[in-house]
Amino acid sequence: KSVTLIGAPIQTGAWRRGCLMGPDALRTAGLRAALAELGHDVVDAGNLHPVAASVPPTHNATIRDLDLCAGWVRVLQEAAAEVAPDTIPIFMGGDHLMAAGTVPAMAKRAEAAGKPLFVLWLDAHSDIHDFDSTDSGNLHGTPVAYFTGLSDFTPQFPALEQTVDPANICMIGLRSVDPHEKKVLAASNIDVADMRMIDEHGIAAPLRAFLERVAEADGHLHVSFDVDFLDPDIAPAVGTTVPGGATFREAHLVMEWLHDSGLVTSMDIAELNPFMDDRGRTARLMVDFVASLFGKSVLDRPTRS
Ligand code: ARG
Ligand code: MN
Ligand code: MN
Ligand code: MN
Repeated sequence: KSVTLIGAPIQTGAWRRGCLMGPDALRTAGLRAALAELGHDVVDAGNLHPVAASVPPTHNATIRDLDLCAGWVRVLQEAAAEVAPDTIPIFMGGDHLMAAGTVPAMAKRAEAAGKPLFVLWLDAHSDIHDFDSTDSGNLHGTPVAYFTGLSDFTPQFPALEQTVDPANICMIGLRSVDPHEKKVLAASNIDVADMRMIDEHGIAAPLRAFLERVAEADGHLHVSFDVDFLDPDIAPAVGTTVPGGATFREAHLVMEWLHDSGLVTSMDIAELNPFMDDRGRTARLMVDFVASLFGKSVLDRPTRS
C-alpha cells in the first residue's frame, strides 16, 4: 500500500506542552522503516507548520491559544485535502485537536469517492466539548463536537462542507467523560464502548460490530488513536493520563483486526508527548501498534472476509 506520513506538531490544544515533539519521536522510533519492512511504499512528507490566524474571541475567556489552534485547524484541513486518493495518510500528532483538521478533510475525501466516512475513536476521552462547554479551556477536548457539526465552531474554525454522521462514529476505551459530554453522548447515536463495557464483553465485541457496519456500508474508515487510550503503565508519554486503560493485548488485538478488515483509509496518532516518555518506550510501542495495523502479525492467518 501507499502510505504518507504527515507531521502535525500541534500542541496548543493541550495544557501540557510537548506534543510538538510527537512526529519526531515517531520518526526516531522508526515508523517509516517499520512500515517499509512490511512491503509498503512509504513517503515521509515532513511536518506541517501553522499559519498565523487572528480570529474573533469566543465568549469563553478560559480558552487557551485560540488563534494558534484555529491556524492549525485550517492548515491541517488544507494539507489533508491534498493527500492523493489512493494513499493512506498517517497524521503524526500533535495533540488531539489535530482531528479537527484531519477528519473533516477525510470526510470530504470519502464524499468525493461516493462513500460515507466512519471514525473509530480510540481514547480515554470523548473530546466532545465545545467553546461554551469546555471548562479546562483546552481545545483538544473539542474536535468531535466540531467535525460532527453537533456544535457551532464558526467563525473561529472553518465552516464545514462535510460533517461526520455521529451514527458512523465508534468510541472505544472511554474512562474520563465530563458531565456535559455524558449528556451529549447520551443524546447522540455515537456508538460508545467505555472500559466497563470492555471488561464485561471484551474489546472484540464492539469492534466487530462496528467493522461489520463499515464493511456493509462500503465506507472509508479513519482511525483516530489517542495514546491515552492505552493504560499509562505501558504508555506513559501523554499529558492526560487516566488509569485503567487498554492493555497491550487489547490494543494489539484491535490493530490486528483493523488490518484484517482491510477497511482503514487514514489514521491519526494523537497526544504522544515525548517529554513525558520513558526512554522512548511509548513512541516505540506506538510504532509497533501501527505496524500491526499495517500487517505485522505473529502468524500468517487467512484474512477474515
Ligand atoms: N475532558 C477534558 C477536557 O476537556 C480532557 C480532554 C482530554 N483530551 C485529550 N485529547 N487528551 O479538558
Ligand atoms: Mn483525545
Ligand atoms: Mn484522551
Ligand atoms: Mn472538561
